[in-house]
Amino acid sequence: MKIALLGCGVVGGGVLDICDKRSDLELSYILVRRPRPELGGRAVTDVNTIINDVSVDTVVEVMGGLHPAYEYVVQAMKAGKNVVTANKHLVAHYYCELTQLAREQGVAFRCTPAVGGGIPWLVNLERVLRLDEVTAFSGIMNGTTNFILDAMHTDGSDFAEVLKLAQELGYAEADPSADIDGLDIQRKCIITANVAFGCCLSEEDVPVFGIRTVTAADIKAAESMNGVCKMLAFGSNAGGKLSVYVEPSFVPVGELEAAVSTNRNVISFETALTGKESFCGQGAGRFPTAYNAVADCLDIASGVHGFYTDTMKPAKPDNSAEKHPYYVRFEGRDAWLDSVTIAPCGDGVITGDLPVSEMHAWAARAKAADPALFIAGII
Ligand code: HSE
Repeated sequence: MKIALLGCGVVGGGVLDICDKRSDLELSYILVRRPRPELGGRAVTDVNTIINDVSVDTVVEVMGGLHPAYEYVVQAMKAGKNVVTANKHLVAHYYCELTQLAREQGVAFRCTPAVGGGIPWLVNLERVLRLDEVTAFSGIMNGTTNFILDAMHTDGSDFAEVLKLAQELGYAEADPSADIDGLDIQRKCIITANVAFGCCLSEEDVPVFGIRTVTAADIKAAESMNGVCKMLAFGSNAGGKLSVYVEPSFVPVGELEAAVSTNRNVISFETALTGKESFCGQGAGRFPTAYNAVADCLDIASGVHGFYTDTMKPAKPDNSAEKHPYYVRFEGRDAWLDSVTIAPCGDGVITGDLPVSEMHAWAARAKAADPALFIAGII
């Protein structure tokens, strides 16, 4: 297999290292923005050198961002090349278009490293879907937020300091807002829901509340309920009713998610045949993520030619039937919050069971009155 790499940062460098140790994968080109003499003669700055070389059969895109990654991936597919990408933003945003284009062009399109980094999550989702319907998925899909929340629980770390450490360790996105506001998880959740439920969601379909405003008092509130605050993605498709959302959650000590420490991810699916199956590991980092990118190339070389699912229904999530109590910390008085509160809890309150859609709609409005608002589902 002859491969061209688009981008050579942390993950691209890992792909390069792994490919260069194998005789069955020839990495012919590395597309870089600026000349990189240390990469030798394989480094090119014009994508057309790659697109026009018919001997390149597979392009591995690890540039990140929407543009020009989107244009390059489209050009590659139209030139008959398979595409492997680690770019969750690209796949979540252009899911329908890119999967359709791959089908039309008869090329493979794989994105296993885009969700869960080094965890073979999407391929296992694909495997179980051959036998049964996935009724639900959930999990910790972002290493940075798990690292921050874990440190706040275990040693009382300050949010800003531990975020800085996550950036230094290379877990956080270039703009860490994507991590702490939940957008990174939202993208992984969209890709997962699309594969698991055969739908085609976009960003506005999936409500998200991040952890930007979490305080030591919120962490204490979780502990007072014998819980651990975790940032979770949820999806379910019970009885044909689709629900998908992302929010901080107080998870009871003893549950698997509560025990997942540092920057690790854990993602689970549920089917009637298997019950709940969970996949845990490094959700980011050079070699774990590069491993899944190279494994996708090997899958393509061994004849896997499609996306993870062939079905696509125009379903939209409705989070009104999904109900649970919430912890809410809101500065000031609010008539709706007063009407749903059942008990005080530290700096905040506990509500009765509330539809997820209602709480997220209220939180989106209430942020204007209290930008430091924090909510967490209690599960
Ligand atoms: N910033 C992401 C994370 C990187 O922390 O999980 C991997 O997608």
